[in-house]
Amino acid sequence: MISSSAPSRVTESERPALSEADFAALSRIVHQESGINLTASKKGLVVSRLGKRLRALGLSDFGAYCRYLRGDGGAEERGRMISALTTNVTRFFREDHHFTALRETVLPPLLEGAAHGRRVRLWSAGCSTGEEPYSLAITLLELMPEATRHDIRILATDIDPQVITTAKAGVYPPEATAALTNDQRRRHFCEGGADAPAGSLQVAAGPRSLVSFGIVNLVGPWPFRGPFDVILCRNVVIYFDSATQQQLWQRYAEVLTPGGHLFIGHSERLARSVGPLFVNEGITHYRKSGESAAV
Ligand SMILES: C[S@@+](CC[C@H](N)C(=O)[O-])C[C@H]1O[C@@H](n2cnc3c(N)ncnc32)[C@H](O)[C@@H]1O
Repeated sequence: MISSSAPSRVTESERPALSEADFAALSRIVHQESGINLTASKKGLVVSRLGKRLRALGLSDFGAYCRYLRGDGGAEERGRMISALTTNVTRFFREDHHFTALRETVLPPLLEGAAHGRRVRLWSAGCSTGEEPYSLAITLLELMPEATRHDIRILATDIDPQVITTAKAGVYPPEATAALTNDQRRRHFCEGGADAPAGSLQVAAGPRSLVSFGIVNLVGPWPFRGPFDVILCRNVVIYFDSATQQQLWQRYAEVLTPGGHLFIGHSERLARSVGPLFVNEGITHYRKSGESAAV
């Protein structure tokens, strides 16, 4: 039971100590919940980010927090803990060589197929606050202005409900849209609204209508089967251990169309063991082995 009485509360200035045993217990729970591998170097980050959760719950030490996480009401807190520990850094057209490949080689044949009634599906897995899937939507609309009239969809998912709420709203402060061209801002955004900080922009109805957001834990069951023509899973698995990464690459191969494309983050690599499943196509760009999907 959690005491909320004043004497057991930790204050902002007190940093609860994290013993090796509690850190190991927390790491196990985090890994089970999300696949995230908390290495010893993350101990300071865990103390500062979860210290706030301890204060919010009125708990005085990490041992009590671990018991709370494992207790009856722990499921909700496990979600909050993962939200507190995940890194959500992202930006529009991040790693722009991927968008060049999409624009020049990957999307044109898929859109040609869509014009003839073919279904086209893209998945932004670990989409954070939405800049990645909206960059995909803008790229699609630049290639095919009438894309919303065809069977083309972008699925965008993340484990963190807070980033999905932000992504769905699609409202970004001026610094987030600064790198977009004037033409992109004019065509694909509108004013952010009275509640948003001055100069904020909201993604326009066109790109928004191409994207469906959902909360999905990549290491849990997936509530869809695909197939996907393109998967972007960038700067997500860097936090997973190699066994978890390997399982994920295999699962991506299962839900990709033959010849489907997988884009991963700049510091990520496919494990050697999944080599036969994918062919390297460019920088951190892979294609599922097998015949290309017919257009
Ligand atoms: C650094 S952001 C990357 C965002 C975007 N893909 C990019 O490259 O800009 C990593 C995202 O992965 C999400 N994530 C971490 N573990 C996850 C899991 N097990 N399932 C789904 N998403 C996860 C985090 O919540 C975070 O939003």
